[in-house]
Amino acid sequence: MEADHRCLLNERNQITDCDLSEQIKAVTKESHVQAENTKVMLAFQRGQLTLQQYKLLLCSLYKIYEALEEELDKNSSHDGVAPIYFPQELARLESIKKDLEHFYGANWKEQLTVPAATLRYAQRLREIGRKHPEYLVAHAYTRYLGDLSGGQVLGRIAQKSLGLKNGEGLSFFSFPAVSSPNLFKQLYRSRMNSITLTELQREGVLQEAVRAFNFNIQVFEELQNLLSTSEETELRQRHKTHSPKMSDAG
Ligand code: HEM
Repeated sequence: MEADHRCLLNERNQITDCDLSEQIKAVTKESHVQAENTKVMLAFQRGQLTLQQYKLLLCSLYKIYEALEEELDKNSSHDGVAPIYFPQELARLESIKKDLEHFYGANWKEQLTVPAATLRYAQRLREIGRKHPEYLVAHAYTRYLGDLSGGQVLGRIAQKSLGLKNGEGLSFFSFPAVSSPNLFKQLYRSRMNSITLTELQREGVLQEAVRAFNFNIQVFEELQNLLSTSEETELRQRHKTHSPKMSDAG
């Protein structure tokens, strides 16, 4: 991708905007299309998501938000984090726990199943929390602004296609402390733009945002592989139990 990482150009090729929020949107545009077009996200949008897919997705989201929110909490007074630190409005971990408890019961934690990509994503979050807290904004942006954008539509689709009642199992999508997602996104972008970064740090944040999207894409792809394998195993087992054994023949 040869996107201009510095600024956006208008139709007369003049630089019009150098805000971090605009840059980050521009450099991740292609990755967003890629993320939307993963099998899991396509199934989601078409209302074809299965309960098994949704439950597995929640397991991964748990590990991702656990790492993200722990690192944001630890670094909440860092100059690159403080302006975009909104635990009251955005924190997802408790909502995901509630959803997991709904689907898996009290011992949900022992039943968590995540692909390797999820662990790599969480590991990266912890690493940048330690070494580059100023990159956390890239990850917080990718997840939270996504949840407040397409995520809101996906929540409504999930409710219908999975037949979930009274918001049960859907807490992840609900932001009770955000009355207008659009206004909140505006505030969030202006806070992102208030962060002071050197050119090098800014470049690092932009690269990290592309990485954040790639981590998400890898998680979706590996989730799908997990499902395909378990579906295949199930089919094989079903086939075994239903087809006559060689010794039964003749
Ligand atoms: C924004 C849809 C998946 C991250 C948006 C917007 C829509 C959307 C309609 C608003 C665009 C705008 O305001 O200009 C979808 C759909 C998805 C999906 C239908 C999948 C079915 C994802 C995923 C991620 C993501 C998987 C990242 C993990 C974002 C972010 C924004 C966004 C960060 C904010 C962009 C900005 O305003 O800077 N999405 N999205 N989306 N989405 Fe997604």
